[in-house]
Amino acid sequence: MSSLFDFENKTDRYTVMGNPISHSKSPFIHTCFAKQTSQNIEYTATQVDPGGFEQAVGNFQASGGKGLNITVPFKQEAWELVDERSPRANIAGAVNTILFKPDNTLLGDNTDGIGLVRDLTNNHQCNIENKRLLVLGAGGAVRGVLLPLLEQKPALITIANRTIDKAHLLAQLYKQHGNILGSHYTDLAGQKFDLIINGTSASLNDQLPPLPDNILMENAWCYDMMYAKDPTVFLRWGNQQKATNTIDGLGMLVEQAAESFYLWRGVRPDTQEVIKAVREQI
Ligand code: ATR
Repeated sequence: MSSLFDFENKTDRYTVMGNPISHSKSPFIHTCFAKQTSQNIEYTATQVDPGGFEQAVGNFQASGGKGLNITVPFKQEAWELVDERSPRANIAGAVNTILFKPDNTLLGDNTDGIGLVRDLTNNHQCNIENKRLLVLGAGGAVRGVLLPLLEQKPALITIANRTIDKAHLLAQLYKQHGNILGSHYTDLAGQKFDLIINGTSASLNDQLPPLPDNILMENAWCYDMMYAKDPTVFLRWGNQQKATNTIDGLGMLVEQAAESFYLWRGVRPDTQEVIKAVREQI
């Protein structure tokens, strides 16, 4: 809401907080969205020292900021800090978007899962309903995306993780939302999946989770939540296993940003041209 003292061309300020942050593509993405939709915003990156997150958020709010994104390693702290959470943020245990409300309270959301789902379903026409999904990993990245995936009504989500207890805990947490199981990697042999989503951090170290061969259905998809200039080792595995489609997480990155932008501005940007622009940069 504007007051008598607002200037007509007032620039609204947003930021992304994390550590490290210099690599972040969020300022570029949101600046593209703002230009495209004629929104008058400035979006910066803020490096925050460990232990300094709450203070940094308070300072940004006091200086007139309107909202922020949160990335590694502060998403759990952000979850604890906010006054109110969307259901998807609440169950994810992590917040990647904060909106400062007019009464100065903090609303926390998690747009990672809807970003993944929009990339799969809108950008790549991958239908999830009634499909058998295998999700690799049971850390924060996976927990952040499970509710929006289950809302697409897959036949089953199997979560495979080296540390099996973490996979079982996640399955337990989400079982009221759909058909979901924890599994050892070794128990995957002989099963078939329509879509495998890599949510482990293995790609960062050029490693491949210990997947058995021949677990892809015909016309299967492999999706890596990571992205890089060249196909990740998981996507190369998918190609060897004759996946019909192999997709990296760059579209997810832009789509999660678009959902944050929508929360703040009430406007949906066109993500296609921004995905292309980010792809050209890497
Ligand atoms: P993030 O926030 O990125 O999810 P995390 O919470 O540390 O990070 O989780 C990393 C995930 O990647 C975990 O599921 C981890 O498996 P374990 O729980 O068994 O450690 C998984 N991971 C990392 N490197 C892996 C590898 N080389 N093979 C298989 N899984 C791996």
